[in-house]
Amino acid sequence: MALESLALRRPDDWHVHLRDGDMLAAVAPWTARQFARAIVMPNLDPPVTSVAAAAGYRARILGALAPDSGFEPLMTCYLTDQADPDEIERGFREHVWVAAKLYPANATTNSALGVTDIANIYPALERMQACRMVLCVHGEVTVPQVDVFDREAVFVERVLARLVRDLPELRIVLEHITTQEAADFVEHAGPNIAATITPQHLHLNRNALFAGGLRPHAYCLPVVKRERHRQAVRAAATSGSPKFFLGTDSAPHPRHAKESACGCAGIFNAPFALESYATVFEEEGAIDRLEGFASEHGARFYGIELNQGTIVLDRVDVEVPERITTGGIELVPFHAGQRLGWRLAAE
Ligand code: NCD
Ligand code: ZN
Repeated sequence: MALESLALRRPDDWHVHLRDGDMLAAVAPWTARQFARAIVMPNLDPPVTSVAAAAGYRARILGALAPDSGFEPLMTCYLTDQADPDEIERGFREHVWVAAKLYPANATTNSALGVTDIANIYPALERMQACRMVLCVHGEVTVPQVDVFDREAVFVERVLARLVRDLPELRIVLEHITTQEAADFVEHAGPNIAATITPQHLHLNRNALFAGGLRPHAYCLPVVKRERHRQAVRAAATSGSPKFFLGTDSAPHPRHAKESACGCAGIFNAPFALESYATVFEEEGAIDRLEGFASEHGARFYGIELNQGTIVLDRVDVEVPERITTGGIELVPFHAGQRLGWRLAAE
């Protein structure tokens, strides 16, 4: 008999963009409803590069939520060419942030101040290795000569492999993996190397970008890849390996900024993220592995206690709305207009 409901240890989101200001107020409750904790990306404008900026941002996130939400934002530091090892270690020791994020310069949204050459941040990375702080990596090269669909695989081969050789104990999360090459690298690396996986890279291949016309709401970075890569990422997510865990990369942009002649990269998947992942795990015959992926592997990798309490997913169809409008901001959620076969039960 098919499962009628599924109880899971309360899950976490190990990669999310909550933005700031009105957008933060609009999107944070969706993440807090689904997840106990989340690793919050620092690519604000200006980016979160100091302990003071991260503490202030954390306070604004909590201020955007109901006082009893129970949600815990886990903050990150944005690495620039000028990254200061002392400041990075101080934020970690003072429990302001848990990780630092490497954006190669100009790889994605608000990454203009990112790192131009990884050699520039070796002092910071050596310090992080020494204090066992996690490095989150946007794994794409940005040289224009490399085809956009190859940027992750080339990053793994040229940059990540060297980084792991040079700093063999550094704890690294390769974020939002999209390729067979990335999945294989992480699987065969040591236990200090892990990866997050988004719902969109489990559901979409690159045909989705062009299905009957140009589809801006399927556009994110790293861009979705060929079907064989989607299959490899699905296999990794559902393998049960503790190296792979949930990171939505929910990245909201207003509808008008997506539906534009130069549309922004990012998919807003926070409202139905667990439902979206559950659909994939069920299709793969691995629903019993969803809890490890969503609620255990990430916390263990980061060395943080597992959450107490459970959430319940009911086997009830849920219609994903075409649009979600909050506080005057119009957003198009992932799976807009579609039906998913699971629904997160209200508490
Ligand atoms: C993210 C954003 O909009 O901040 N966009 C995206 O497509 N994922 C940035 C990022 O994670 O690359
Ligand atoms: Zn992201």
